[in-house]
Amino acid sequence: MSKSKDREDLIRVGSGTAMGGLMRHYWLPAAMSSELERDGAPMRLLLLGERLIAFRDSSGRVGVMDHRCPHRCASLFLGRNEEGGLRCVYHGWKFDAAGNCVDMPNAPPHQDYKEKVKAKAYKVAERNGLVWVYMGERAEAPPLPGIEASLLPESELQITFAQRECNWLQALEGDIDTSHFGFLHAGSVDPANVPEDNLIRWTVANRAPEYHVTDTDWGTMYAAYRPAMAGQTYWRFANFLFPFWTQTPQGAFDRVNSRGWVPMDDTHTMFVSLSWKGLPAARAALSNSRMLPGSKLTMDFLANTSDWYGRWRLAGNGANDWLIDRQAQKDGGIYTGITGIQAQDQAVTESMGPITDHDFEHLGPSDRMITRTRRRLLRAARALKKDGAVPPGVDDPDLYVNVRSGDFLANEKIGWREAYEAQTRAALRPLAQAAE
Ligand code: FES
Ligand SMILES: [Fe+2]
Repeated sequence: MSKSKDREDLIRVGSGTAMGGLMRHYWLPAAMSSELERDGAPMRLLLLGERLIAFRDSSGRVGVMDHRCPHRCASLFLGRNEEGGLRCVYHGWKFDAAGNCVDMPNAPPHQDYKEKVKAKAYKVAERNGLVWVYMGERAEAPPLPGIEASLLPESELQITFAQRECNWLQALEGDIDTSHFGFLHAGSVDPANVPEDNLIRWTVANRAPEYHVTDTDWGTMYAAYRPAMAGQTYWRFANFLFPFWTQTPQGAFDRVNSRGWVPMDDTHTMFVSLSWKGLPAARAALSNSRMLPGSKLTMDFLANTSDWYGRWRLAGNGANDWLIDRQAQKDGGIYTGITGIQAQDQAVTESMGPITDHDFEHLGPSDRMITRTRRRLLRAARALKKDGAVPPGVDDPDLYVNVRSGDFLANEKIGWREAYEAQTRAALRPLAQAAE
């Protein structure tokens, strides 16, 4: 296959595309439960290039459907969220959360054909504060994925959404590219100023790690490594999990953290971060990045609007050069001049343009995880299209539950797979603890 065909197959997510077909096999985290009020205003929702309306009915049930009314296509965004359903304001047809037409008041009773009309509605599930949508064709949707963080009770789960104005894959690839950390986020840090017991020391003492990269049941994994103090290796493990999840290497294996890069359309992505609130500070401290200048961990948002692209936009964006501060870049100790870890990632990935040009790239040894992940995605999407092979994790939700990532020091004699197993085994398991 040609490189440009590969690129098209990887990035396009609309109906009928290779990746769009793959994504439609999975449940997509689409909104926070708190975004939808009972009998509240319908919300515009963009998923996989489809313009949808989400609403919560009087009983609390969430409906997600094509925004066009199946009568004559007026937008249901304008609809009245009334007792038990959404009523189109054009001729008054009313639909329940499953898309059934339950009232057709502009037709005389003997000509009423509401039983024959159905809005194009998708299956919806809600769990622990997150609304999931299934856009696939199965009559019976597959089980919700066992993404570990998403199984935590709502009180223990931190959910953050942030929109990124670029293709889903280039946004995701920032999470599986460890060598950027020593530049983008920590390029101005002098290792001599980092306490010996802080693991960031090793990221900045050697900014050119080597890698092991492998396919896994859930997707792909890398282990970046560098020598640390005598007899020790500094490891950074991270994962890609089908179809758009990542787990990043900055922090302890005790973190229960997964990051979804949900395609809104080909050029906009909703970042969905799910993490455990209860990680004990002492276990988190070792590779605490709070000490980096300009590393604010929170995000600054613009107010949400009802526009298709109006949800969870960051204050720094392409129109204001991501709020870059040249003085801070020059002598303020902030390598980018941009404050905020997320804002820094946002700036570089958006700066590539809405869809990065794979022909213009020169991928090297530091990009092996990216190359491998692209290949794995392409293989799965094409096997699905050609032979109907169901992609990983769809029918096997438990595949995800025990997967972890993080950074640590280990005896240099320990092999990389062994080191991963040992860390994963020793990690805190809030779900298991809750069950005991
Ligand atoms: S267009 Fe919606 S009821 Fe006519
Ligand atoms: Fe980053």
